[in-house]
Amino acid sequence: MNSAAIKQRIDELTLQLNAHNKHYYIENSPQISDYEFDLLLRELMELENLYPEFKREDSPTLRVGSDLGGGNAPFKQYAHLHPMLSLSNTYSIGELQEFDRRIRSTTSAAFTYNCELKFDGTGINLLYRNGILVRALTRGDGSTGDDVTRNIKTIKDIPVKLTEGSNYPEEFEIRGEVYMPFKSFEQLNHQRELEEEPLFANPRNAAAGSLKMLSPKDVANRQLACVLYHLIAKGYENSLHSTSLEDARGWGLPISEHSRTCNTIEDVIAYVKEWDSKRHLLPFPTDGVVVKVDQYTVQRELGYTSKNPRWAVAYKFKPEEVLTTITSIDYQVGRTGAVTPVANLAPVQLSGTTVKRATLHNADQMNMLDIRVSDSVYVEKGGEIIPKITRVDISKRLPDSKPEVFPERCPSCGTPLKKDPEQAKFFCPNADDCPPQIEGKFLHFASRKAMDINIGEVAIHQLCAREFIKQPEDLYSLSDLQLLSLDKWKGKSVENFRNSLEKSKEVPFHRVLYALGIKHIGETTAKTLASSFKTIKAIASATKEELLGIEDVGEMLADSIISWFQDSRHIHTIQVLKEVGLKLEAEETALVSDILKGMTIMITGNYSVSRDTMKHYIEAHGGKVGSSITSSTTYLLAGSKAGAAKLQKAEKLGIPIISEEEFYKIATSNQENNDNEKESAGEQMTLF
Ligand code: IVH
Repeated sequence: MNSAAIKQRIDELTLQLNAHNKHYYIENSPQISDYEFDLLLRELMELENLYPEFKREDSPTLRVGSDLGGGNAPFKQYAHLHPMLSLSNTYSIGELQEFDRRIRSTTSAAFTYNCELKFDGTGINLLYRNGILVRALTRGDGSTGDDVTRNIKTIKDIPVKLTEGSNYPEEFEIRGEVYMPFKSFEQLNHQRELEEEPLFANPRNAAAGSLKMLSPKDVANRQLACVLYHLIAKGYENSLHSTSLEDARGWGLPISEHSRTCNTIEDVIAYVKEWDSKRHLLPFPTDGVVVKVDQYTVQRELGYTSKNPRWAVAYKFKPEEVLTTITSIDYQVGRTGAVTPVANLAPVQLSGTTVKRATLHNADQMNMLDIRVSDSVYVEKGGEIIPKITRVDISKRLPDSKPEVFPERCPSCGTPLKKDPEQAKFFCPNADDCPPQIEGKFLHFASRKAMDINIGEVAIHQLCAREFIKQPEDLYSLSDLQLLSLDKWKGKSVENFRNSLEKSKEVPFHRVLYALGIKHIGETTAKTLASSFKTIKAIASATKEELLGIEDVGEMLADSIISWFQDSRHIHTIQVLKEVGLKLEAEETALVSDILKGMTIMITGNYSVSRDTMKHYIEAHGGKVGSSITSSTTYLLAGSKAGAAKLQKAEKLGIPIISEEEFYKIATSNQENNDNEKESAGEQMTLF
C-alpha cells in the first residue's frame, strides 16, 4: 500500500469503528459481532503503530467506547473516583502465553493468577459509604459516568445496605457487570414481539438499554442481575484481589462462584479451555475469561497503559458456531422490495437460544458459499438478531443435492426481479402493488419520524390484506366499522388512532415529504428539499438541473424524484393529502430583519453552525437561499469542504465567493447601515 492508501485505510477504520462504538454503547444495537469489531480494531492499531503520522485525534484506540448520554433518559453525570479502564483482549492462546512472558520479564516477584469469567453485560461502578449504596455510575467514557443509582437499586442482587455487623471499609468502590440472564432476555424479546417493539440483538444490549431507562419501575421489570469483580478500598494494598472479593462476598455483595487461582499459565489455559465449552451450560451470557495477577503489590509494579492495566487480560471466546442442516430456503420480500434469502434450519442451541433460521444475505453470498437445501452448514451469531451461515461442510453433502437457483420473479407478487447495482441485492420493482412493500410504505408513513400515527404492524397488515388501504391517503378515510374489525381494536384504539391522524396535520412539511417514502429521500434530504423548494408543487415541477443544483442531491435522487412525480397515483395522493389538511408547504420563516433583502445566497460546505441554521438565518434576515447558481446569485457562501463544481460554476459566472466570516461582516455592515438610516435607537440585532 502506498502512503495515501494507508492514510485512507486509517481514516476509514477510524470512522467505521467510531460509528460501531456508537451503535454498541449509545444505541445498544450493534451492527457487527464483537469479533468482527475486534479484528477491525486490531488492524487499526497495527497500522497506527507502523504509521503514527496518520493516527487521528478521534482514534478509537485512544479511548474506551463511551455510553454517556445513551438511552432515553437524561442522567446526571459524575466523575469516577478512579478511572474505569477496559482490558486488552485476545482470541489466541499464544497471546496469553506472551502476556505471561511479558509479566515475568517485568517482575521477579512470585505471583499467581486469578481467572474469572468475563460476564457479557454492561459495566457498573458502585460506591458504598458506611455500608450504604450511595451512587452507581455507568462506565461512561471511563472518567465520567451516568448516574443510574435509582435504577440499580431495583436489581435484587445488589444490596442497598450491606450485611449488618460485617467488617467493611468505611468507603469503597466496587465494580462489576449488570447483565441479563438468558431466560429474562427471551421473555423480554417475546413480550416486545407481541407489542411490536424492536427486538434487542442480544442480552448485553438489553441489559445496557434497560439500565438507561427513565423509570426505575420499568427497570425492575427487566429482571437484571449483577456480579461484582473489582474492589477498590483502603487496607488491601498488600493483600490479594481474590481475598478482597471473598471479603466482599461476606458483606453480602454478589461475587462469582466460578473464579479460580492458577499458579502457572498452563493452569490458566486449562481454565480457559474448560470454560469455552462449559459456558454454554450457564444461564447467563459470558464472552470470555479475564485473567488477573492476584497480588496487588505485583499489580502496582506492572502498572497501566493509557487504556488498560498491564496486569490483566481478557481472553475472548470466538463466536460460537454450530453445525446443523438446511431444511428449506425462503425468499423474503422486505418492505423496501429487497429480496433476502433466509434458510430454515433443523433447530439447534446457539449461545443460549434456539436457532431455527439464518440469513443468507443475498444471491452473491449464496453463490459464493454454494448453499443447497439439505446441506450441513455452520451457523454463527453476529451482532444482529438473525444468525448467519458461515460455511458449508461439503464432505456431508448429499449426492443428489442440486444447486439453489435464486428466483427470477418476486415471490410475493410475481414481478420480474431487478438487481440493485449498489447493494448486490435483487429487488422487486413493483413498489406500489407488491403486498410487503405496500405494508412497508404504510409503516414508514405512520412511523414516529414521519407522520407519527398510532397504528401498529399487525393492524396495517390486516388493513392491507382486506384492501381497506392502498395509498397513504386511505388512512384518513377509514370508517369506525373498518377499524373496529381489526384484532384487539376497541373504542379506545380507534380514538387514539383518530387523535393521531388529527395531530399529523400539524407535522411540518419536511416530515410529510419524508413520509411519502420517495426512494432515496431520507430525513436530512427531506429537510434540504423542503427548505430549498418550499412547496411540494415546486419539487414536483423541478427540472433535473434544478434538482441537481441542490447540495447533496445526486443523479440517483434526482431521477427518483422525477419518476415518482410522473406517476398519476402519486399526484392523486398529494391532492387528497392536501385536502385532508396536511402541510405540503414549508412554514414562512418569521422575519427578524431585512438586512439581506434582495440577496440570493447559495450555500455550500460546512459552517460553524448547521446548514439548516444558516439557511434559517439568511431567510430570517430577508435573504433568499438559492437552489442553484445562476447569474442572479448574489454570493456563493463557501464553508469548509465546499463543493468543487459549485465553486467552479461561481467562478465562471463571476459570482463572488465569500467565507462564513466575510458573510457575517457583510451582514453586520448592512445592519449598521440600516441602523444608521433608520436611526433606530437602542434596538440591537443579534445574529443567532
Ligand atoms: S476487570 C481494570 N473482570 O469486560 C479491570 N472486567 O473488556 C477492569 N468484564 O470493562 C475490568 N467480566 O465491563 C473485569 N471478570 C471481569 C469481567 C470484566 C466482564 C467487562 C468489564 C470491562 C470489560 C473489559
